[in-house]
Amino acid sequence: MNLVIIGAQWGDEGKGKIVDYLAGESDIVVRYSGGANAGHTIVADGEEFALHLVPSGILYPDKTVILGSCMVIDPKALFDEIAMLEKRGVRTAGRVLISDRAHIVLPHYIALDKERDAARKQPIGTTGRGIGITFSQKAERDGIRLADLEWQAKLDELPAESRDFILSYKERLQSMSVNLTAFLMRRKGRRVLFEGAQGALLDIDSGTYPFVSSGMSGAAGAAAGGGLGPRSLDKVMGVFKAYSTRVGNGPFPTEFDPAREGEGSLCSYIRETGREYGVTTGRPRRCGYLDLVALRYACDVNSIDSLVMTHLDVYDTLTEIKACTAYDINGTHTEDFPASIPALEAARPVFKTFTGWRSPTTGINGAEALPPAAKDYIKFIEDYCRTRVGIISVGKDRAQTFVRESVWSV
Ligand code: GDP
Ligand code: IMO
Ligand code: MG
Repeated sequence: MNLVIIGAQWGDEGKGKIVDYLAGESDIVVRYSGGANAGHTIVADGEEFALHLVPSGILYPDKTVILGSCMVIDPKALFDEIAMLEKRGVRTAGRVLISDRAHIVLPHYIALDKERDAARKQPIGTTGRGIGITFSQKAERDGIRLADLEWQAKLDELPAESRDFILSYKERLQSMSVNLTAFLMRRKGRRVLFEGAQGALLDIDSGTYPFVSSGMSGAAGAAAGGGLGPRSLDKVMGVFKAYSTRVGNGPFPTEFDPAREGEGSLCSYIRETGREYGVTTGRPRRCGYLDLVALRYACDVNSIDSLVMTHLDVYDTLTEIKACTAYDINGTHTEDFPASIPALEAARPVFKTFTGWRSPTTGINGAEALPPAAKDYIKFIEDYCRTRVGIISVGKDRAQTFVRESVWSV
């Protein structure tokens, strides 16, 4: 079975935690998009790992993990990450493969990414990992893929500095290289997890363009980057937080507004309780209430079969919770997520208010034990999004995860 896990908001929904949890029951994990802009956190047995390029199945010694065809890979960042894992006792030899169609991030792309974003009148607030530059080189047909490491004429076209950089990693990269489609076709019937990076609203096409990343972070990207056709994907699960966060610039209709929510207090409470700081850049994440207009759009545009709700515990002490059920855009009421940036910036959220449950969920031993007010909140989300919440997470640890319906069936 081929199961896709995507972020259903603006990234950092807890994909790493959920992929790690499900990897225990799967055979292969394929990370299908993005690059070292991602930061996926896993907490297992009290130990915390932050992964950027290596798929979140690596902590299980018997799983094969693959960096997919639509990833953009900075070899230095990759081998630093592998060295970190080895140092911490995770054996990686022979278990980390890379699609021969993946593109390589060159060192000067990183400097260029930072320069270009700083020069923009409206900066995107990129992670400065050379992602956009590598994707634009790819679209220009000037990129270098893993498969090109054996194409001497192509390497000879490169400036000496770039060529030397690539050649210094050539053998190691080639030893990990795989023809992804052939590899997966030979293993038909196994359980394969396709791990997304970023989120639905950071997808180059369906996100809040131009305030997006440059890859296909949505479910369509799982087919393109996973080496299989769209009809091979059996199920799509979308991970979302009980609230919303965004790191970097761009519209965020439900972002906490001091004039509405009080001077910074709710925002800093959520940020500190949820530890809302970027894993890759350390930037404080912008925080806000759950945006159901955006979440339902993410469900629809990605064919999400089932949702995974994380960070429910962060709301444990609140007396009142809100979720946005519509936008008021210059006097017009809509539940449709707009493409226009001025419309999103003008959107005033229409909120529904829920009673808080005011009891800890972190230590409960199953979804059935959730307080009734938390169940009501979840039920409303399911009805609004017309999508069931199949997994609930109430803490960062692997153990704080409850499965409400069979994941490995369609
Ligand atoms: P990803 O990019 O989607 O993998 O998410 P990140 O790792 O960037 O950010 C999610 C953060 O929330 C990490 O610090 C996780 O350890 C943490 N986390 C994940 N699930 C939960 C949860 O249910 N509750 C709380 N409190 N933290 C969580
Ligand atoms: P994970 O996988 C959150 C954001 C950046 C910026 C925009 C473009 O951890 O959820 P880029 O460097 O990709 O060109 O930046 O996208 N961004 C993320 N935000 N989580 C991520 O990944 C992100 N990857 C990129 O902050 O706004
Ligand atoms: Mg992250």
